[in-house]
Amino acid sequence: MARAKCPNCAAETDFESAFCQACGTPLADPAMPRRPPAVASRRAERRPITVLFCDIVGSVSLANTLDPEDMMQVLDVFRASCDDIIARHNGYVARYLGDGVLAYFGYPSADEEEASRAVRAALALQAAMGSLPLPNGIKCQVRIGVATGLVVIGDLVSRGEIREVDVVGETPNLAARLQSAAPAGGVIVSEATQRITAGLFTYRPLAPLTLKGFDAPVQAFEALNATESGSRSRARAESARTPIFGRDHELRTLIDRWSRVRAGQGQVVLIRGEAGIGKSHLVEALRRHVADAPHVQSTWNCGPNTTDSALYPVAEQLARTAGFERGESVEGRRAKLARLVTRFGLTSPLSTAAIADFLGLPPAPSSPLEGLTPDKLKAVTLDTLLASLDAWAGQQTTLLAIEDLHWSDSTTLELLDRVAAKAKGRPWMILATARPEFSNRWTEIADVLHIELTRLDRGAAERICAHFDAAAALPPEASRQIVARCDGIPLFIEEMTKSVLEGMAAAPTRQGDAKVFIPATLHDSLVARLDRLGPARRIANFGATIGRRFSYDLLAEVMNAPEAELRQGLLELTRSGLVESHGLPPQSEYLFKHALIRDAAYELVLKRERDALHRQIATVLREQFSELQEKEPELLAYHLTESGAASEAIPLWAAAGQRAASRAAHVEAVGHLETAVELLRRQPPGAERAAAELPLLLGLAVSLSASRGYAAPEVGRVLAEARVICDAMGNVPELFAVLRNACSFYIVAVEMGPAAETARLCLDMASKTDLPEQRIESQYAQGYLLYMRGELAEARKYLENAGELYRRHDGAQLVFPSPQDPMVGSLCALMQVINALGDEAGANRVEEELQAHVLRLGRDYDRAYSLCFRALLASARRSYVRLRTLADEALAVCNERSYPLYGAIASFYKGVAIGHLEDADAGLHMAMSAFDALDRIGCKLARADRLHDIGRVRMAMGDFGDALSVIDVAIADSMSCGETFPLPMLRRTRAELLAGAGRLTPDMATKGRAGALPGAPPK
Ligand SMILES: Nc1ncnc2c1ncn2[C@@H]1O[C@H](COP(=O)(O)OP(=O)(O)O)[C@@H](O)[C@H]1O
Ligand SMILES: [Mg+2]
Repeated sequence: MARAKCPNCAAETDFESAFCQACGTPLADPAMPRRPPAVASRRAERRPITVLFCDIVGSVSLANTLDPEDMMQVLDVFRASCDDIIARHNGYVARYLGDGVLAYFGYPSADEEEASRAVRAALALQAAMGSLPLPNGIKCQVRIGVATGLVVIGDLVSRGEIREVDVVGETPNLAARLQSAAPAGGVIVSEATQRITAGLFTYRPLAPLTLKGFDAPVQAFEALNATESGSRSRARAESARTPIFGRDHELRTLIDRWSRVRAGQGQVVLIRGEAGIGKSHLVEALRRHVADAPHVQSTWNCGPNTTDSALYPVAEQLARTAGFERGESVEGRRAKLARLVTRFGLTSPLSTAAIADFLGLPPAPSSPLEGLTPDKLKAVTLDTLLASLDAWAGQQTTLLAIEDLHWSDSTTLELLDRVAAKAKGRPWMILATARPEFSNRWTEIADVLHIELTRLDRGAAERICAHFDAAAALPPEASRQIVARCDGIPLFIEEMTKSVLEGMAAAPTRQGDAKVFIPATLHDSLVARLDRLGPARRIANFGATIGRRFSYDLLAEVMNAPEAELRQGLLELTRSGLVESHGLPPQSEYLFKHALIRDAAYELVLKRERDALHRQIATVLREQFSELQEKEPELLAYHLTESGAASEAIPLWAAAGQRAASRAAHVEAVGHLETAVELLRRQPPGAERAAAELPLLLGLAVSLSASRGYAAPEVGRVLAEARVICDAMGNVPELFAVLRNACSFYIVAVEMGPAAETARLCLDMASKTDLPEQRIESQYAQGYLLYMRGELAEARKYLENAGELYRRHDGAQLVFPSPQDPMVGSLCALMQVINALGDEAGANRVEEELQAHVLRLGRDYDRAYSLCFRALLASARRSYVRLRTLADEALAVCNERSYPLYGAIASFYKGVAIGHLEDADAGLHMAMSAFDALDRIGCKLARADRLHDIGRVRMAMGDFGDALSVIDVAIADSMSCGETFPLPMLRRTRAELLAGAGRLTPDMATKGRAGALPGAPPK
């Protein structure tokens, strides 16, 4: 008989009893919905849930024809069945509405599978309807609607003793409307539900539904049945056709190990890393790599729900190998098993019986397994599996992947140990993946290779985002935010990019205004991680309201909770792995490991509570943490902004922008300054506002130049706005900075006329003000321009002059209105000029001075800049090994700090170097895509140089005809735009080519490789 636990004394009691047999406490009325435990009073919060709405078809006519007593019985049976099925799927029956039932999944606590549990429950409900024990042979049919989304849920209504969980939001309405649109016996789910559970169920897309209360037609799907492949990660893997970015090193290591495997040296590899970091993707990449060479493969998938089922991953794989199908008869399976057993060469009746038993087939009469102890049965099974594996793989090259070992049951681990021991003398690779918390003997033994996957760098993150945004529909701001919020976790980047794009597609009227939010596909699992915290979750909510990083003392002030409770909660929070802590309380600091976890914790707090909290935090910060205001003005600025005190926040944002820019953190600076400008522009216009806006715009222009490239359109826009204010205000000192930045804009866009004009204006102004920083900047700008035009002697004069002034006035102490140091810039240009004048040794000396100066300054931006110019010199000298080194070094800085202009230049040079040194086609491909990227961000500077580099790779490949066309395009390009510095070099190469090509037949000279020539006019 089923037993229930008494909520008061925990004694076990028969389910049927109305009172506890031990202490007499009234037990739940069996007619009441059975609710999952732990639904004590809950504060209202915002959270994603899945709502299921189920209603009996034709209940009114049923009620009219049935005797009321029979109707009551129908409802009783129906409800009991609903209760049971929903509870079994961990749902929460919120309410019965007449003949309908409303249930929540993901409340009171979420997990990663709630949407799929809701759909499973819906399908189970449909399946159960046919066999309900109803009176008089009545048949009952239901319609079901399921929807997933954000709601406010909790004890909204408190009427005396009766607490009612209420839910507010669109999701329940949607579920109800979908329900009424469903066919009798059907399950209709919302788009969000479908997206989260894609791959787990077969869905039929419906024509968009027009639903009452919804403005636009709603996309929905009919759920037909669950698919065979059960787990989410596999469903994902099936749909994953993504290339692999940023894992070159790891993949190379694996490929290297694979070559050892092929030479007969078995390998055991464990890839560890947090969820979504790309473990399976790396395995997949290896699979793709080895696909061409003969080998055999198998995969064991461990799952969260099968940790307690011994050897489940192996059984599942074996059933797949045998070809078992869903719903297949026992006879059918036996026949398939017999074939498998022959294939494995298993002869003993004991092992044949063991494997049949293992696969869940009923024992044959007088089975040899009869009477075996469980231990003995396990031993026989393990031996048999090992022998089968051996027979199957044998001496073939084999890749056995075991996914998600942290979920593995202990018997699978035991088997795996034995497989690994066996692998040593065989051409087998055992490749396992696990989350960081997994550890066993494997993590300690030396002959297991460990690969720890860390978060991707910014460059790789940007490439994933760009991959999913193939049509480049995302506004740059949205992609930047995605990269910033996702912390280099590919799963997050992928999901977020897709969902922002989908959001844009759904609301095309608001183009350009892409909202970056937590994607539905991630929301559940993020909230689930928070829910597992229990009481410490409230601390997470408060901490998150402070920010991604928060300190103990600030939290203590804001929360006003007993110290012991706070410390305990923080300990739990740290143990959960959601935040990392530094130091000991009260000096400790905490950091949410993921920006998205912080967002999810913050989102749970009701809006009105948030406002009040921000206000309180701002007050505490101002009154008790005044030193923070200087160190991190953005912190107070943020809380003031969120609590609606914009005018107080603006100067703090401005200060934060300045601080960030001074540390070359230009991406952050842009964020701070843009917020300042945005808030300022909400204030009434006038002279005062304009005066406040001008320095903000200038700072913005500088940081935008650094973080998006000098010639990016937004730089031009901001400078134009600044210029308008300058003109309106008359003679303002800021004009110099506007002109100087405009000059850089034109130089990089290679608009020689306006560049010369602004350079001249800068020289004029500087000679009037006589300020050293202005004189240095204007000499440098003029020198640079002359260098571009190939007027080498004149250029040298200006550039040397700029350097001289810088030294004399201790330039490192001055503040310049541009992102890079003018001494660095001058030396970079001077180096090329002197080299072009034929003085190689002189150019080398300048390069040494440049290196020393950059080292002294210690700023990443100047380092990236100088590395790219040194690469330019190396390519002009055709020192490709050196070019490769410089490009790699530059790329590392640029990927880390997000300097797209120099990042693209560096990757161009890397391609050129690879083209000459390693692999012409691969190098050329890399160089060409960087070439296009530079075109896209408006960088025309040194374009002819780059074409020259491409021409030289082609030349080295023997494609003289193509090389010649590229060089001709470069010459025309250089002459038409006026950047004629590279002309002599181009002409030399052209002459070389003609001399070389003369010795070839015309046919050989134009082999015509695949791929259009860069810069060639369209045919
Ligand atoms: N290096 C990468 N480049 C591009 N996409 C990646 C990369 N690593 C992972 N992904 C994508 O991110 C998602 C999560 O990766 P996955 O391998 O499933 O993570 P894990 O197995 O560690 O949980 C997948 O959709 C995968 O395609
Ligand atoms: Mg995985």
